Amino acid sequence: MPPPQRPTRLTGQDHGHAIRAEGLTKRFGDKKALAGVDLEASAGTVLGVLGPNGAGKTTTVRILSTLLRPDSGRAWMAGRDVLKDPEGVRENLGLSGQYAAVDEKLTGRENLYLVARLYGMRRSTARRRAAELLARFRLEDAADKPSGTFSGGMRRRLDLAGALVARPAVVVLDEPTTGLDPRGRADTWVSIQELVAAGTTVLLTTQYLEEADQLADSIVVIDQGKVIARGSAAQLKARVGGERLTLTVGNSQAYTRTYEVLDALGPHRPELDTRTGRFTVATERGAQTLEHALSCLRLAGIAVQEVELAPPTLDDAFLALTGQPATGPQGPPEEHEYPPAGSPPDASAETPAEQTVQLLATGRRP
Ligand SMILES: Nc1ncnc2c1ncn2[C@@H]1O[C@H](COP(=O)(O)OP(=O)(O)O)[C@@H](O)[C@H]1O
Ligand SMILES: [Mg+2]
Repeated sequence: MPPPQRPTRLTGQDHGHAIRAEGLTKRFGDKKALAGVDLEASAGTVLGVLGPNGAGKTTTVRILSTLLRPDSGRAWMAGRDVLKDPEGVRENLGLSGQYAAVDEKLTGRENLYLVARLYGMRRSTARRRAAELLARFRLEDAADKPSGTFSGGMRRRLDLAGALVARPAVVVLDEPTTGLDPRGRADTWVSIQELVAAGTTVLLTTQYLEEADQLADSIVVIDQGKVIARGSAAQLKARVGGERLTLTVGNSQAYTRTYEVLDALGPHRPELDTRTGRFTVATERGAQTLEHALSCLRLAGIAVQEVELAPPTLDDAFLALTGQPATGPQGPPEEHEYPPAGSPPDASAETPAEQTVQLLATGRRP
């Protein structure tokens, strides 16, 4: 794939970062959605914004994409000031929403063609670009069917393709895999990795620790509008630990001894849920640690009932980083994404699709 058309232009104020935000705050009535968010990403890297539902991810994304004004704070995208030069930002930005902004009546090809035309491409160029992206996102077979008939994973890929039509320097993806099955998630990951390999800077929000770990060079963990941890994926993983070993022992008389055995496995403290009798401990070496734990417990004469090894969840990460579970409600995304917030330029665009079209239309150079 060719590199982004417009190289990232960096100014002094963004400190050489393709994405940079300083002290972003935003209130909705009584609700403080953002309480001073700072983040940055170097050109050509992936920044993961990880947090539970309601943490402030979409609000951050909307501010960085010029769809919402912050109450205070500043931000730069691809060297352009989000508040002073929103048009400049939009010209360099690809946005893919939490809810795929795809017109269901149009075919996949027509959706992409429309976006290309909105960016001011000639008909022939728009047709070519649509065909290229359909091939790249493995959508060729379904390209001429109405996108309303697409699976969730296909819609996300189409939405992602739409964000790339104009070869933006910076791409913002708001929970690109939420609600997808494992196959759809894996497909989307591959697409994002290809994008990054081509030199694009990506900001990706997610509720999945594993996803941030797979895709992001640096990660910002947010909760209740505040950054609670930041670092490289490796640094964060070192703090959170690897796969979780979970096991139950039948006899509560054996709890103390079991705790000691698990505690001796490595640097991470085991946790015991006394209600369920379930022990959990982060491991450094997954299956090897599991085998070692089982043989130690056998030697100690402790009968293990159930045992499981699983990648750390967002909850595990919050526990490890803050000592507390995530505060946001878990589960499917809330319904008020992209509300008509009454602040320009989104006042008239009530659906994600309209907002995207408006964003594209206003982002286009006359
Ligand atoms: N337009 C809005 N009106 C009122 N509250 C909002 C609005 N948008 C977001 N919020 C609130 O702000 C907080 C952050 O929301 P959001 O940025 O959507 O979080 P996330 O994307 O991480 O789930 C939540 O408590 C949410 O309820
Ligand atoms: Mg959101």
